[in-house]
Amino acid sequence: MNIKPLTLFILLCVCFLTYSFSIYLQPIFTKQDISIDIHKAINGRLVWQKYNCQSCHQLYGLGGYLGPDLTNIYSKKGKGEPLIRAFIYTGNVVMPSYGHMPENEINELVEFLKQADKSGSVDYNTFNISYTGMIEQK
Ligand code: HEC
Repeated sequence: MNIKPLTLFILLCVCFLTYSFSIYLQPIFTKQDISIDIHKAINGRLVWQKYNCQSCHQLYGLGGYLGPDLTNIYSKKGKGEPLIRAFIYTGNVVMPSYGHMPENEINELVEFLKQADKSGSVDYNTFNISYTGMIEQK
């Protein structure tokens, strides 16, 4: 079969546009989680930055390594919201106490960690790579 260069070029353009279009459509068809107050979570991200939690903790494996990764702390068995609040209030030998943090900032921070937890898992054993190259949860 003899494909002309122009035909091949047009074919590749169509493939490129179709793929790009499908990628950009994905967020529209992805269901929003109504259990998360997204504005609170966005403010929580700013609180996370303000108090520099990232200097000791990782999110999605990135950050400081003095403390543990907090991506899935919200849903981890035996941890969750009460433990997050307790650590923020009291800290421990290595972690500073943030007892002076205003209540609304603590609530926003907790919402941010809840949202981070729902966004995915840092445990690569639970990853599946689909035929399109996207990483999905098993
Ligand atoms: C100076 C470094 C440091 C900073 C800054 C820091 N932490 Fe920590 N954090 C630690 C260490 C170390 C631990 C582990 C303590 C332990 O298990 O003994 C920890 C533990 C935690 C835990 C419990 C984790 C678990 O798996 O038990 C939470 C939740 C937490 N930190 C939240 C935060 C938040 C939120 C901030 C920002 C407001 C923050 N930390 C800032 C060092 C830090």
